[in-house]
Amino acid sequence: MQVPFYTSTREYKAHKAEFDAAVSGVMARGDFILGGEVAEFEKEAAAYLGATYAIGVASGTDALVIGADILGFRDGAEILTPTFTFFASTSCVARLGGKPVLVDMDAETLEMDLADAARRVTRNTKGIIPVHLFVQPTSMQGVMDLARSHGLAVLEDAAEAWSMESLVDGAWRKAGTIGDIGIYSFFPTKTLGAYGDAGLMVTDDEELYRKIKSYRIHGSSVKYHHDYIGYNSRLDTIQAAILRVKLQRTTEAIAARASIAAHYTERLSGIPGIRFPKLTTDSRGVSYVYNILVPKRDELAAFLKEKGIGTSIYYPIPLHLQKCFAYLGYREGDFPVAERICREILALPIYPELRDDEVECVCEAIAAFYK
Ligand SMILES: Cc1ncc(COP(=O)(O)O)c(C=O)c1O
Repeated sequence: MQVPFYTSTREYKAHKAEFDAAVSGVMARGDFILGGEVAEFEKEAAAYLGATYAIGVASGTDALVIGADILGFRDGAEILTPTFTFFASTSCVARLGGKPVLVDMDAETLEMDLADAARRVTRNTKGIIPVHLFVQPTSMQGVMDLARSHGLAVLEDAAEAWSMESLVDGAWRKAGTIGDIGIYSFFPTKTLGAYGDAGLMVTDDEELYRKIKSYRIHGSSVKYHHDYIGYNSRLDTIQAAILRVKLQRTTEAIAARASIAAHYTERLSGIPGIRFPKLTTDSRGVSYVYNILVPKRDELAAFLKEKGIGTSIYYPIPLHLQKCFAYLGYREGDFPVAERICREILALPIYPELRDDEVECVCEAIAAFYK
């Protein structure tokens, strides 16, 4: 049996009429650039997240660059960011001439190690980029306590964290809505994924909102009058129309992911050597990615591939060992937890349309490998 790591086609086939109507509606109106669907999606997304303002941009990566620029994460400012994350969480700072100060991770939760972050604060530290990976947000209480005590700006990378929640100051809040600016990616594999590139930024601060809106169209709020040197980064109207269709089904999609994750955990828990990321009590997770930590990871991935089962590795190389970041001066051994997790972690297929028999097939193959 072939089990693809990810496919969008099952979802498209199941709801073809709705997706086709959404796309052809935009074509018929011809409002391709910041059209009506963008404004509607921004309203619906803000309401879903409990954010005051939501602004659609072209990708999660652009959202990070724009957020970093506006918050002043540039020109030598030191910014705390994890070494174990997707490249864009850190490149956004480096691109603007800021100094990424990398932080190790917690071996159990796979979140940023906030004690390590606190040790790396200096008088030049200007901000922090907590990244909410895989299933649960970084402890935002810990991040906000650290940020408040050192006067740091907080850019939340919630690219993977659609609908995850964090307990902060006694209240549950959606990941991404807690810091000064939060960003989301709608890369197709995401819990809320577009059919192409798309991203979103949120904030509760009116001044930041106005700046973000202006930055996404070359720093202008009145046509051809440029207050800032901004970007060209707009959420595409066709993608907004697709996202509106998918937003309506978020609850059932998340429930389907939860049941697949529970199925995996139940079937794989008995296999000696397999470990699972620890779930924390101050967060309400969403199973965006289902990871296991395993011995002989590369051999297992090759074995599954031979059987037609797709897997993925998030992330094979921590950022301090990436060639382009050599100038930061880190060496192998500097972040021992991240280096170990990069050798052990393996992501299994998970998407709402994945069938029970496919999950069984993956689990049986893993059991056979370790027998
Ligand atoms: C943690 C993280 N940050 C940033 C991004 C960048 O988002 P995009 O691919 O939409 O540019 C991604 C995802 O793809 C991500 O997983």
